[in-house]
Amino acid sequence: MANVMRVGIAGLGLAARQGVEAFKVNPGARLTAVADVRTDALEEWRGRYGVETFTSVEAMCESPEVDAVWICTPNQLHSRHTIAAAGSGKHVICEKPMAVTLDEAEAMVDAIDRNGVKYVQGHSKIYDPPIRKMREIAASGQLGRIIQINTWHWRGWMRSPRLPSEVDSRTGGGVAYRQGPHQMDIVRFIGGGLVRSMRAVTGRYHPTFETEGDYTAFLEFEDHTAATVVLNGYGYFDITELTWGIGEGGSIWAGRDSSRSVPVAMRPVTPEEKYGLAKYNEDRHQERAQQTDRFQPFLGLTLVSCERGDIRQSPHGVYIYDETGCNEVICEPDSDPAGELRELVDSVSENRPSFPDARWGMATLEVVVGMMESSRQRQDIQLTRQVACPPIPAAALS
Ligand SMILES: NC(=O)c1ccc[n+]([C@@H]2O[C@H](COP(=O)([O-])OP(=O)(O)OC[C@H]3O[C@@H](n4cnc5c(N)ncnc54)[C@H](O)[C@@H]3O)[C@@H](O)[C@H]2O)c1
Repeated sequence: MANVMRVGIAGLGLAARQGVEAFKVNPGARLTAVADVRTDALEEWRGRYGVETFTSVEAMCESPEVDAVWICTPNQLHSRHTIAAAGSGKHVICEKPMAVTLDEAEAMVDAIDRNGVKYVQGHSKIYDPPIRKMREIAASGQLGRIIQINTWHWRGWMRSPRLPSEVDSRTGGGVAYRQGPHQMDIVRFIGGGLVRSMRAVTGRYHPTFETEGDYTAFLEFEDHTAATVVLNGYGYFDITELTWGIGEGGSIWAGRDSSRSVPVAMRPVTPEEKYGLAKYNEDRHQERAQQTDRFQPFLGLTLVSCERGDIRQSPHGVYIYDETGCNEVICEPDSDPAGELRELVDSVSENRPSFPDARWGMATLEVVVGMMESSRQRQDIQLTRQVACPPIPAAALS
């Protein structure tokens, strides 16, 4: 590999538009190639970033000018594209969810191991400073052992323009696959990783979309910690009303005013409709640069209880509630819009295991598909693929 990691992005949609900002703050990586089936998107990216373009991800994976592939294609393609990249000896960042089925995830883990490349789970909330801080405080034992983790989110995911595959659970559509990995990563990370069993109810209450629009899950960890994970994606109430108006990106979330509801989408959109939207044609860097009101990112409300105190997010860090009262711990703002790129570059250059890796991604997927399975069977699910959270390097906690 060259001194600077040469990265190709597969799939030039919203996830890629967010991820590409990370190259501006990661001098150890350079964007050299992109792949998509939309030739107009390839042209735009060639013009903007001067990269080589490919109409096939597999062809990009074979390029000698690429050391790593960042997979931002739709969920049902993650497995195929990861296996192609690993088979060509490329390191992988893969967007969440890792895959649609556990069989796909197993094949991905096998391909990563067999080819001796690194995998980093993309777009995980584990990279968010307040989530790391909550894990650090909870794991330190300063408040006694962890007893409860609750993470709840209300957001109108089902109201955004969605392609048919995004509202079809068989192709990884719906909120369980699209939002579940975020919340399950938060809960597994803070709780140490090892979920023992779960019970969940998932709902399909959108008037026309046959996919999960809500879920309510109860998790029990091996050490007896209990967790609840709740999401409602129908878009009537927005949880940012309870988080100072701050949303996932750490800025005041435009959808925070629940009284200003947007209409329910009654049908999926076509690719032409979706990719013609303004957000596919904006420069996200300009957009971020114009935001002056930056806070820590919030994915709903997360409240962690320990034996001798509670922890929750504040706009700039976390609040600790204990016998001394409420104390705020400020987290350093994270200038890196995508911690996964930094983690891949560092784990390769330091020749150490990456985190969150492919086994972590598979363990999170197991909890996500477990929710739907538990709901179908109306009973508890025992989990068998869980992995423990490694100690967080001190440097990452500053
Ligand atoms: N929307 C978000 O904010 C967001 C954020 C983070 C992660 N994700 C995840 O990232 C992935 C992509 O989501 P998105 O919202 O960017 O979707 P998107 O629809 O905006 O973009 C997907 C892109 O993949 C391309 N594509 C489709 N089939 C392809 C193929 N066979 N080969 C190459 N390119 C192909 C599409 O043309 C499109 O450009 C999903 O796994 C999603 O869960 C989404």
